[in-house]
Amino acid sequence: MIKVLSVTSECAPLVKTGGLADVAGALPGALAEHGVQMRTLLPGYPVVMAALGKTKLLFEEPDLFGGKARILSATIGALELIIIDAPHLYNRPGSIYLGPDGKDWPDNPARFAALSWVAALIGAKSAKGWLPNVIHCHDWQAGFVTDYLDDMLPKGARRPGTMMTIHNMAFQGLVDATALDDLHLRSARLQRSGFEFWGKISALKAGLTGADRLTTVSPTYAAEIMREEFGMGLHGVMHERRDVLHGILNGIDEQVWDPATDPNIATFKTPQGKKRAKAALRRALGLPKADGPLCVVITRLTSQKGLDMLLDAVPALTARGGQLALLGSGDPALEAAFTKLAETNPNVSVTIGYDEPFSHRLMAGGDAILVPSRFEPCGLTQLYGLRYGTVPVVALTGGLADTVINASPAALASGCATGIQFYPVAFEPFERALIQLCDLFSLGAPFTKIQKNAMRSPVGWSASAAQYVRLYKEIAPQE
Ligand code: ADP
Ligand code: GLC
Repeated sequence: MIKVLSVTSECAPLVKTGGLADVAGALPGALAEHGVQMRTLLPGYPVVMAALGKTKLLFEEPDLFGGKARILSATIGALELIIIDAPHLYNRPGSIYLGPDGKDWPDNPARFAALSWVAALIGAKSAKGWLPNVIHCHDWQAGFVTDYLDDMLPKGARRPGTMMTIHNMAFQGLVDATALDDLHLRSARLQRSGFEFWGKISALKAGLTGADRLTTVSPTYAAEIMREEFGMGLHGVMHERRDVLHGILNGIDEQVWDPATDPNIATFKTPQGKKRAKAALRRALGLPKADGPLCVVITRLTSQKGLDMLLDAVPALTARGGQLALLGSGDPALEAAFTKLAETNPNVSVTIGYDEPFSHRLMAGGDAILVPSRFEPCGLTQLYGLRYGTVPVVALTGGLADTVINASPAALASGCATGIQFYPVAFEPFERALIQLCDLFSLGAPFTKIQKNAMRSPVGWSASAAQYVRLYKEIAPQE
């Protein structure tokens, strides 16, 4: 059996700000079917500590970046957790990344260096006899694991294989080079071939240069990040390490997102069956009757997601009988712009906030889900859309390119389309895609065919879990 320590700053259902949590929460179950035992290392934020039932003490660390820490194990559902109970780092109200002023906590570099430190300790010394064969690091928050392993283990000693998964190249964990000693990092790595990035320390680059294998969450994003346009300044590093870089698509939890059993909705198995869910959603949102498609959006409101283009494209949609229902939160300017749009256009409903059950009702009741992202490493909402027959209208980028079959003339003629893709990622192509959606919707049968195809698309984890296992086997030390 391969033992893997997954190192992450969020994990559903305990703590989530985005798709990383879904992936970290689903991987252990998906991998168990392939004979992998995955334990998940997670900071002990208040929400996490409150959710833990019985815990066991694995070990104590007397000085973990400025205070005492207890490393605990606990089980929640299928998740085997290792929790860092370090109140000086994690016991804070509100968001896990941001202080009350809406800015990153100033000590975020240390808070997450501590996560990497504990992962390396477990990889170097084991936790109560449990020694991982592989440490699987997610994003910059787990970036320093290989640096710390190098410090803790003599050269030539048995060490676990290391994998770094990039969920988003835009977040790099940059910190001033003066923090080197505080973060227990070696100055020899503060150079171009190491974690140095324009004079600063980059936690992401530490992982990208140190790990045995790199993965990202779709094949197209793996190719994109080797290019200047998408590499966020790290395209050169990605290109240099292309031999160990793999794109492995995310899946979704097919139990949580199953229209036939979803407890949040009037359940259905066919596109026809969605009608009740749609009527219920329209009633709940106070939207008038209309002839066009009801489009939904569930998202963080950030520039990545391209929603400023949607603000401009809505008139073309509603002029053709279409409607929009959006759930999201984030950038105050986007929140204000969408709120204003809803006040002036009766066919637009906007809910600012974060609401998991409501996201299911939107997905069930929508005819289409819009994802006009400028870049999208994988994206999960288009996958939920496929499963619920909510036709994805997506930008041709990253995982959106890999998971949707565009309703091109060829795909329509051979009956295999599952959605609509637009390219280049700009306002006019997006507007044209919305017009195509309205046209297809008004034809009836061709739209229903796309919905049926969508609902049959493979969106689970099994193929991707097998790809992770293959890589784990390549890097696990020979016993
Ligand atoms: P990202 O991780 O870049 O935000 P993903 O599409 O991979 O994008 O994942 C986003 C996840 O967060 C999905 O599970 C989505 O349903 C959920 N989500 C985003 N915004 C909200 C919201 N306002 N309310 C409920 N769920 C949301
Ligand atoms: C990131 C990406 C998103 C991806 C998610 C999970 O947040 O923005 O595209 O689906 O991670 O891998």
